[in-house]
Amino acid sequence: MTTILETERLLLRNWEDTDRELFAYLLGDPAVTRYLLPCRKPAEVQARFDRMREQIGETGYGFCALEHKATGRSIGWCGLYETCLEPCLPAGTVEVGWRLHRDHWGQGYAAEAARACLRDGFTTRELDEIVAFTVVTNHRSRAVMEQIGMRRDPAGDFEHPRVPEARPDLKSHVLYRLSREEWHAHLGSR
Ligand SMILES: CC(C)(COP(=O)(O)OP(=O)(O)OC[C@H]1O[C@@H](n2cnc3c(N)ncnc32)[C@H](O)[C@@H]1OP(=O)(O)O)[C@@H](O)C(=O)NCCC(=O)NCCS
Repeated sequence: MTTILETERLLLRNWEDTDRELFAYLLGDPAVTRYLLPCRKPAEVQARFDRMREQIGETGYGFCALEHKATGRSIGWCGLYETCLEPCLPAGTVEVGWRLHRDHWGQGYAAEAARACLRDGFTTRELDEIVAFTVVTNHRSRAVMEQIGMRRDPAGDFEHPRVPEARPDLKSHVLYRLSREEWHAHLGSR
């Protein structure tokens, strides 16, 4: 097992074959993907799993499996991810993102894991800035962004270029940002 980060209740680790079912659930479950484009084609799901595992193996970061330490069960993902959504988010932008199994919402796991990712990003990886973005109406995810100290940048809001016209409900995104300076000034000692 490759542990990337550890928090009070969670391990952030690379994916294992036993996580394939959870990964497929996170990509396809209607509640989890209410504000996301679902992916339910088995071959595509497996290819994305393999790519994510390979990327974490090579770089030491990516959307990592969240293992609940007390039970040993994997409950979702969280991590830093290099994203490029030209012209909205230029190459080199690093986002923090999360998805949890529906059974584990409402217990602060996403914020706990994301805080560890911010610390890793601003200390070990010395990133200048980390962003997060979501569909305007995804209030749970926006609440996590606010809980971890990110601030909304209305000037950065964008229409997601990869969302098809058939899903106008998923087009409009809000952007949240956190700089290394802000993190050190307000959050780094917590
Ligand atoms: C986003 C997600 C990870 C948050 O999970 P979580 O850590 O369990 O977060 P919670 O359920 O505690 O909810 C977070 C906050 O949203 C608030 N919230 C819950 N339902 C809400 C609603 N309908 N409207 C507004 N806020 C709401 C909660 O009160 C909580 O805020 P608080 O702690 O300040 O009270 C989880 O909902 C999820 O996996 N969603 C599906 C995948 C997804 O959308 N990922 C994000 C893609 S950008």
